[in-house]
Amino acid sequence: MNWHKLLERHSMLLVVGILAMVSVGGIVEIAPLFYLESTIEEVDGVRPYSPLELAGRDIYIREGCYTCHSQMIRPLRDEVERYGHYSLAAESMYDHPFQWGSRRIGPDLARVGGKYSDEWHRDHMRDPQSVVPESIMPAYPFLERRELNAGDIAANLTALRMTGVPYTDEMIAAAAEDLVAQADPFGGGAVQDRYPGAVVRDFDGDPTRVTELDAMIAYLQVLGTMVDFGTYVPEDNTR
Ligand code: HEC
Repeated sequence: MNWHKLLERHSMLLVVGILAMVSVGGIVEIAPLFYLESTIEEVDGVRPYSPLELAGRDIYIREGCYTCHSQMIRPLRDEVERYGHYSLAAESMYDHPFQWGSRRIGPDLARVGGKYSDEWHRDHMRDPQSVVPESIMPAYPFLERRELNAGDIAANLTALRMTGVPYTDEMIAAAAEDLVAQADPFGGGAVQDRYPGAVVRDFDGDPTRVTELDAMIAYLQVLGTMVDFGTYVPEDNTR
């Protein structure tokens, strides 16, 4: 029996054959990624976002900041010199959806945390040209006027847990409390126990209420600060 002739004369049979071949190839390439331990290297310091940071991240997405800002520093010399250590996969392992972005009308924000003071961010959000005269970034003055509406924060954490973010029952139960406490200069303790390294302070300059600007600055200030690159040693993947 001439198999080749048979396949070439029956186009549907050929299609089935091609699909079978491509599927095998695909499985061989893709399946191991789900089992290899090194697909996402675990890195010390990377933790899930605190409720306030997460609320800020949601506003970042709502306002479409990702249409102008990437959060992914490529391992190229010019990027590393400008923005800092290239991004690690683990740094966005709890980002659902990730904010790598695809356009840079403004600079990359993957390591903007700690680069500026809260005051700078306040002025910049209110009126970007007041701190960077040549800026073409739009202003977001309403963020400081709007009370943060995060009544669904516990549900938000619960949903993220389903996607694999390790929020505990305790974190979910305390989410609403932690959200307010992180924006209170005296809120400390419990938030930092649950989210090591979380910055607790009044971010927007108005300690009497928690605004969208509090959440946004808390988020911006944590970006890229979780991993200590003074002690980080890349895993040897060549072995
Ligand atoms: C139309 C494009 C555009 C949008 C949308 C935009 N930005 Fe920008 N952003 C810029 C540009 C351009 C700069 C550089 C000039 C400046 O600092 O204002 C910038 C700078 C920044 C900086 C300072 C970065 C650094 O390293 O100096 C931060 C922080 C920032 N943007 C945050 C945001 C946030 C948060 C949002 C959403 C609320 C946002 N941007 C939306 C264009 C944009």
